[in-house]
Amino acid sequence: MSRRVFVLGGFNTPFIGKKHPDFIWKGHPDFGKRENPTLEETITAAVRGALEATGVEAAAVEKAWIGNFVGELFNNQGHLGAALVGAHPDLLFKPVMRVEGACASGGLAFASAVESIRAGTDVALVAGAEVQTTASARQGGDYLARAAHYARQRGIDDFTFPALFAWRTKHYREKFGVSEEDIGHVAVKAYANANKNPLAHMKAVRMDIETAGSINPKNPAFLSNEDLNPFMKMSDCSQVSDGGSAILVVSEAGLKALGRSPSDAIELVGISHVTGNLYEDGDPTKMEATMVAAERVYADAGIKPSDVQVAEVHDCFTITELLMYEALGFADAGRGAELVKEGRTAIGGDIPVNTGGGLVGFGHPVGATGVKQILEIHRQMKGQCGDYQVPGTPGVGLTVNMGGNDKTVVASVFRNA
Ligand code: CAA
Repeated sequence: MSRRVFVLGGFNTPFIGKKHPDFIWKGHPDFGKRENPTLEETITAAVRGALEATGVEAAAVEKAWIGNFVGELFNNQGHLGAALVGAHPDLLFKPVMRVEGACASGGLAFASAVESIRAGTDVALVAGAEVQTTASARQGGDYLARAAHYARQRGIDDFTFPALFAWRTKHYREKFGVSEEDIGHVAVKAYANANKNPLAHMKAVRMDIETAGSINPKNPAFLSNEDLNPFMKMSDCSQVSDGGSAILVVSEAGLKALGRSPSDAIELVGISHVTGNLYEDGDPTKMEATMVAAERVYADAGIKPSDVQVAEVHDCFTITELLMYEALGFADAGRGAELVKEGRTAIGGDIPVNTGGGLVGFGHPVGATGVKQILEIHRQMKGQCGDYQVPGTPGVGLTVNMGGNDKTVVASVFRNA
């Protein structure tokens, strides 16, 4: 019989970048006087914060994983297992590994810890971090393009990923007759939720449907690729954010040894990890790997889509959130936008999605995102989300972390223990 796996909680640094009030940038009163946190400082803050928030001693951690995509490019720093050890003296000589799977690096770090718990580990630490503001958005577009098939896809646009998802938007809109305004509601929800979340990158930026629903001076289309340009605006994009997240993942014996009860934790009841082919892209109007991940995680957890009470899904672009709804069985093909327009995925809706703002509003420090999603579900289930708490405490939560153009997917289902 498989050993039970619990998430005890953790810590999130604020996610910051351009337009965040604390981000040091031209015009900020502290510009030239102080710097934004480095990757190393971000990892340390996340790890120490998670240990403190859960009351777990560093010495009690048996193994750790860290998700990060391209520290080598943004920060000239790889070998982040050793950087995690540097976060606390009592982590010295513990087995720690950096895990990479593009934007699903955090989800993969969690999946690795789950396998280890099932194999006998009792207390594991899972962190994720990325610091991306060291480069301009255009330079970062080149670094992030390593998550696509670089040789084949880099030339689509300087902003390779926004262009790949503009390609999906174009086909989706044409096939299903969905308007720009329909999709704009996803951004309005993301920013509205972020405005309630003190840790969100976009906590201070307002978004209305007039701005998000069309290309306009406040919301320009920015791709050079003429065919794709009309299908990607600033408000459709996740943020170039810096941030870190860390969680404690424990067995039943680990919970006991730490003197904690299952009521402090959420239990993992299903997980799937699916990998697509880097060299082929299928139907742009579907997220095929995510569809398989959804089928498998529901089967593993023994639930159906309508059982999910709160979800964190990978909205790297507004279209991605709609394709996620459809892949996850929340909406039929082409009908995802209706869920948002009707408020069903809002904080007070019947299936709240990305309640803290998602990647568009909360931000997307790539390697941290998959870990942050799990922590968000823990916080919602434990009633810790303050102004963006969903009513009641949800009993079943889902996370879906996706890397590349729907190539690496980690989906997890949790029950309130
Ligand atoms: N009119 C026309 N064009 C404009 C403009 C305007 N008013 N304002 C800006 N632009 C253009 C400019 O060409 C500008 O580039 P240059 O200054 O280099 O010429 C470009 O838009 C970007 O402008 P900024 O650098 O001022 O904008 P920004 O720093 O606020 O960035 C963004 C905005 C480009 C949307 C940026 O947030 C972004 O790139 N977001 C997406 C990040 C991303 O792709 N993450 C990965 C997601 S994919 C995933 O999750 C899977 C995976 O595995 C990777």
